[in-house]
Amino acid sequence: MDRVVIITGSTRGIGFAAAQRFLKEGDKIVVLCRHRSHVINAMRRLAEGIGPDDRIIGFKCDVGSSWDVKKVIEKTLKKWDRIDILVNNAGEAIYKPLEEINVRKFKRIVSTNLKGVFLFTKQTLPAMKAQKEGVIINISSELGFRGQKNYSAYSATNFAIVGFTESMADELLDTGIKVYSLHPGGVATDMYFEMHPEARPEELIAPEQIADVIFDMAKGIKPTGSKIEV
Ligand SMILES: NC(=O)c1ccc[n+]([C@@H]2O[C@H](COP(=O)([O-])OP(=O)(O)OC[C@H]3O[C@@H](n4cnc5c(N)ncnc54)[C@H](OP(=O)(O)O)[C@@H]3O)[C@@H](O)[C@H]2O)c1
Repeated sequence: MDRVVIITGSTRGIGFAAAQRFLKEGDKIVVLCRHRSHVINAMRRLAEGIGPDDRIIGFKCDVGSSWDVKKVIEKTLKKWDRIDILVNNAGEAIYKPLEEINVRKFKRIVSTNLKGVFLFTKQTLPAMKAQKEGVIINISSELGFRGQKNYSAYSATNFAIVGFTESMADELLDTGIKVYSLHPGGVATDMYFEMHPEARPEELIAPEQIADVIFDMAKGIKPTGSKIEV
């Protein structure tokens, strides 16, 4: 489809599956995470099956770093001159009682799950506004609607994404830019198994299923501000 798609945290799990899905349809993909080796590995795996491809670029980027985010946006625009879709997917979780969550971990979760969404959206908007179109998909969780024990820090950031999405949808009415949030239940990824090692993949949603939903949302057909539960 030849759109330019940035997916944060796309070296594994939901983000990686989404990158595969967009590539399959002919889109161009920006892959990123905090580790250079993971980026290189993911780019190699994404190119498998489609051959040498200049539709994939990758960056080492911490979504909580303004400097890193600025560089990703600058280099993407230099190469492709537009950004059609932003998927704010990078996330970090913790499943522990509050007393066992140290301040450092709490800050990291807020930095990745919330500050990252703020920074990427802020840096992407000028390009989307100039184009007069674009789709931003913020990955929250079912825990962005309902808190549960041991999820205080993670759930709080997912609730925050709902407020951010609703506000941005309102702020960007009539700009041609659609803003959505997505709320999956348990998905069979490293994130889930690290918190629940006893879980069985067949009881969970496959990342490819979420990728299909993201791909569908990226068409921008649903009303802006829509919250999609899976
Ligand atoms: N799995 C679930 O059950 C589930 C359910 C509902 C919602 N979600 C949400 O779905 C999203 C993806 O989750 P997932 O399960 O696919 O997680 P995952 O398998 O742990 O993958 C997370 C991805 O984000 C990257 N990442 C983490 N922190 C980052 C940072 N600060 N900057 C840049 N990249 C970063 C990771 O790479 P590095 O660590 O190498 O940086 C990795 O590529 C998250 O927002 C999560 O909250 C997941």
